[in-house]
Formats: sequence, C-alpha cells, structure tokens
Amino acid sequence: MDAAQFPAVALPVQRSCPLDPPAQYHSLRQEQPIAPLAFPDGAVGWLLTRHEDVRAVLADDRFSSDRTRASSPVRSSPFRPEDRPGMLLNMDPPQHTHYRRMLTRYFTVRRMRDLAPRIEQIVADHLDAMHTAGPPVDLVPAFARPVPSLVICELLGVPYAERDVFQQRTATLLRLETPEQEARQARRALRQYMRDLVEAKREHPDDALITTLVQAAQDPQAALTDDELAGLGMLLLVAGHETTANMLALGTYVLLRHPDQLEALRAHPEGIEPAVEELLRYLTILQFGTVRVARQDVEIGGRRIRAGQTVVLALAAANRDPEHFAHPDELDLSRGPSQHLAFGHGVHQCLGQQLARVEMHIAFPALLRRFPTLRLAVPPEEVPMRDDMFIYGVHALALTWDS
Ligand code: HEM
Repeated sequence: MDAAQFPAVALPVQRSCPLDPPAQYHSLRQEQPIAPLAFPDGAVGWLLTRHEDVRAVLADDRFSSDRTRASSPVRSSPFRPEDRPGMLLNMDPPQHTHYRRMLTRYFTVRRMRDLAPRIEQIVADHLDAMHTAGPPVDLVPAFARPVPSLVICELLGVPYAERDVFQQRTATLLRLETPEQEARQARRALRQYMRDLVEAKREHPDDALITTLVQAAQDPQAALTDDELAGLGMLLLVAGHETTANMLALGTYVLLRHPDQLEALRAHPEGIEPAVEELLRYLTILQFGTVRVARQDVEIGGRRIRAGQTVVLALAAANRDPEHFAHPDELDLSRGPSQHLAFGHGVHQCLGQQLARVEMHIAFPALLRRFPTLRLAVPPEEVPMRDDMFIYGVHALALTWDS
C-alpha cells in the first residue's frame, strides 16, 4: 500500500498535558504506526510512531539525512540548501563519515569527563549568583541557559561575551513562526559570525576546538573549506547550548511536579545517571522528531515508501511506546537502561550526548543540594511552555525557596 491509498494525517502538535506528547500519537501508534502524513508544502510522506520502526529507519542507509531535499513537518524548517557546507546533520556517508570521524575524538566519554571540574565550577558560580539574588529567580536566564552556553563557548573557543549574537539568532531560527526572510538573515548572520571566528583563530590560535579544527583543516586529507568549518562550528554552537539548556529547565520543572521522586533523588543523588536517561526519554525535547528522505522505494510494515518521500520519525511517540517501555507515560527515575531515542540512533546519533550527560549529571544534583526547599513560584499551569519552538522546554521557570 502506498500513501495515496489512505487519508493522510497532519502532524500532531497540540498537547493536552504539557509533559506528554500530543495524545493523538497513542491512537496512531496503535492503529496506523506507519501513517501517510500531509506536509504543509502539499507533499505526502509518512509518520512513524513505533519504537521499533523509528529505530530501524534511523539505522537504514536506504534513507538519506539530507533535509534540504525533505519536506518540513512544521511550517518552517531551520534547514535550507544554503546551510549545506559543514552541516553534519544533512550529510550522508561517506561524506558524513569523513566529518564525523574528525569530530568524535573530541567528544568521547573520557574527554567529556575531563571537563567535569570546570563544569562543576561553572555550575557552582551560577548557583552562588542565584543564592545572592534571592528568590524568586527565573531558572532559565539564571542557570539553565548560561551553564551549557558557557561550557560550549569554552569548548569551542567562542567568546562568551558575544553570546547575545548567537543566542538571539538561535532563538529566531528555532521559533516555528519566524518569517522565512528573518530566518534567512539569522542563518546568514550566524554563519558570518562563525566565518569571522575561523579567520580570527587562524591569526590568533588558542587551545580550544575551533582552532584545533582550523589547524586540522590544513591537512590535505581533511580538505575543509572555511565555509565548512563555519558550518560545523555553527552546528556545534547551536546544538550545544539550546538542547541541554532546555533539558535543565524542563527537567527541573518535571522533577518539581513529581515530589516523591524528587525526594528520592535528593536522598540518593548517586541515582542521577538513570534519572537523567529517564528525563531524556520522558521529555524527548526534539518535539517534532527528525526526518529522513527515502533514496529508493522501501517496503516497511506493509507500506511502500516511495523514493523521494519524507519520513518523519516521531521520537517523542517512540519513547512512549508501550511495546518497548513498561508504563511509558509514567516518569520512573529508577527505570533501568531503556534504549530511548532522545539522542537519535544510527550514524547521526547525537555527537554531543556525553557532554549533555556530564552537564546534567553535575547540574541537577548541585541545584537540588544548594536549594533544599526549591519549589515553583507560580502555579504549574502558568509556566510558559515552548510549544512554539523546535526544541521543547519552558520559556521561563520562576522558582522560590526558603532563604
Ligand atoms: C540533551 C541534549 C541533547 C539532545 C536531546 C540532542 C538530540 C540530538 C538528536 C536527536 C540528534 C540526531 C538527529 C538526527 O538523527 O536527525 C542529535 C545530533 C547532533 N547533536 Fe545533539 N542533542 C543534545 C545535545 C547536544 C550537545 C550538547 C551537542 C554539542 C556538541 C550536540 C551536537 C549534536 C550534533 C553535532 C549532532 C549531529 C550529529 C551527526 O549528524 O552526525 N547535541 N542531537
């Protein structure tokens, strides 16, 4: 059967509960796990909601990651053909393999663990500042955003003092309703910023990652242009601060809404590693999932996906699949290893996942330790959720404590 034979659904986007993916995913997963999907540009593709199918497609090289050829499931996509140089996410092997090999050595578990003392310091400084400011404090600008921003800036060698330049543009790019003209300007400005930085590092090298890549690019085997270096830097900068920032703020919100589990974590902070994996699964902040394009006709679960069709892999639905997870809609911080798909799967699985983990393993327990009476300063339903952004989270999180 192919898509034309069945009425196409629209991507579910309306949540009835802020901590659960749209309820429509439940029925889709049960009744139409591979559903024809109508895209805003008029194309028809597919929406996959089961864990097994999503994981299989992510590992299947008959599907391409080149989003510049894909339809976008939501009105505007942050990806455009002009973003191609250096954009790892949009590449397929063997080009992807070449880039990825060059980068993975800088993001290993060991390298990221070596960063722990500095991350602990950054976390402690921001908690001190929150303490000094006194309650109420908005966790997003006070802690959740600056901590990963500062970490990725130091790792890359991007001046943190210039954070407004990239934070505002990142927000513009990741907002669903940004007009195309404005998004294009933000993309160009970010790329130009990175190109200038590449130039500056060539003249004044330091010991951070962009300099290392600039130097590695001189090796004829690497053969990287400045535009490609700028693209890589831009991806690392955007992916490196926006994602973890939202996990920290949304994760705190969900912990405060599950006081029993929060208390258990306070009592046993050594349980933070499984707790973080469960928060990643439960929250799946890439709320619209990810996309692939079929390179050839592919048959999956009795459906024929045609060459050129876009397939949306609903990571949030897959991470709540009852066939894979017991009681998937319950947050259970003691859940064991679960093969969640919050970092994706296959060759594009998140390059920065070990960094994100180290940051969260340090930041959550430190926050809870420093403020034993931490609580929401507003009713939970007044917390503004990021329904309007590619990456889910909270726009603000007003917190208070007994000072
Ligand atoms: C909790 C935080 C994070 C989440 C949930 C997350 C999620 C993801 C997901 C789902 C993908 C795969 C997308 C796909 O297959 O289409 C991905 C790729 C990627 N992520 Fe992350 N990410 C996080 C943190 C980070 C950090 C801190 C960095 C910074 C270094 C980073 C850099 C990247 C890069 C460079 C890729 C592209 C990898 C490739 O195409 O080979 N991410 N991320």
